[in-house]
Amino acid sequence: MGQAEPATESSWQTPPTPGWPALRGLMPANVRIGSAVDGKLLATDEQYRSELAAQFNAVTAENAMKWVNLEPSPGVYDWSESDQVVKFAQANGQAVYGHTLLWHSSVPAWVSESWPRERIRELLRQHITTVVSRYRGKIWAWDVVNEVLAEDGSLRDSLWLRKLGPGYIADAFRWAHEADPDARLFINDYGTEGRGRKANGLLRLVRELRMAGVPVHGVGFQSHLRWDRAPEDATGNLRRFAALGVSVAITELDVRIQLPVDAEKLLDQALLYQHMLKACLAVSTCESVTLWGFTDTSSWISSHYPGFGAACVFDSDIRPKPAHEALVQELTSRRGTPPG
Ligand code: G3I
Repeated sequence: MGQAEPATESSWQTPPTPGWPALRGLMPANVRIGSAVDGKLLATDEQYRSELAAQFNAVTAENAMKWVNLEPSPGVYDWSESDQVVKFAQANGQAVYGHTLLWHSSVPAWVSESWPRERIRELLRQHITTVVSRYRGKIWAWDVVNEVLAEDGSLRDSLWLRKLGPGYIADAFRWAHEADPDARLFINDYGTEGRGRKANGLLRLVRELRMAGVPVHGVGFQSHLRWDRAPEDATGNLRRFAALGVSVAITELDVRIQLPVDAEKLLDQALLYQHMLKACLAVSTCESVTLWGFTDTSSWISSHYPGFGAACVFDSDIRPKPAHEALVQELTSRRGTPPG
């Protein structure tokens, strides 16, 4: 990809790329199509910006809004990259999905487990309040808590659970709601997109939180998938969450392929992308499908899964792959069909 000069505000209003259809123009009105945003490419690569603007009507900062990046030293916030994402979105008519206020990972190294419980609780309250307040009215939805479950569906052993006990989840939602009462508040996890122990645990947790009056509005299903394995009954699984009265969303969809890539694997990948889109569109309260990056250039997969790659719907030259075509076909065939 060509490296352009850093963006100026006037260059952010980018025209749609000619040559292939834009997903955002094909989505039903009540469902958003989003992508995670790589802050470095956003700042330096015109082709990346242009396709991001053309294809998607929602964006999620892939890393910029994580605590470790926002508050590198105590009380000193660096909003530069997260502000860029929000400005880009505003200039291009995109909603912003905020990721994430609380996670066991990406906690700044200066936060110490040796601190007393009340100090840690107050620190967390302040962090959530500061971040949500800064973007009040500008963020459509927040991942309030990310990956709080263990594989067996119990609560994950984390700094937050050890120091604060299970009530930290309800507290996080209440603090976020106080700071921006209009933001949609999500609980987000991986490995829960199909039926299974972890999804059962998530269902129990969301039910309990809702019964306790905690402002949980939605459940995010990350959907980091392999090309050769579909989740177990994704549609039925989303539906049982929707039956609790919450929205659902596919929040981090990608489909990694074991290298080398071949035409058959790309077709399987395309079918899996299409399958997850269908699952969302089959549920009337599914609010969005977000891809975890749209180009193979910037995907996290190669650094985290050796031997795997090519997980996105555009290749590393930002040319559409069969997966993009499958999404376009699915959406085109549904135009005029009422949602699910
Ligand atoms: O930007 C720095 C760079 O300056 C430095 O030289 C380099 C050295 O390691 O690190 C770079 O930062 C990396 C960053 O990605 C940007 O590439 C971090 O080390 C690396 O940890 C970080 O990984 C991210 C990961 O979350 C951990 O925060 C991935 O990009 C991101 O895709 C991934 O996203 C997560 C979601 O937040 C939650 N769900 C799972 C998903 C995939 O793991």
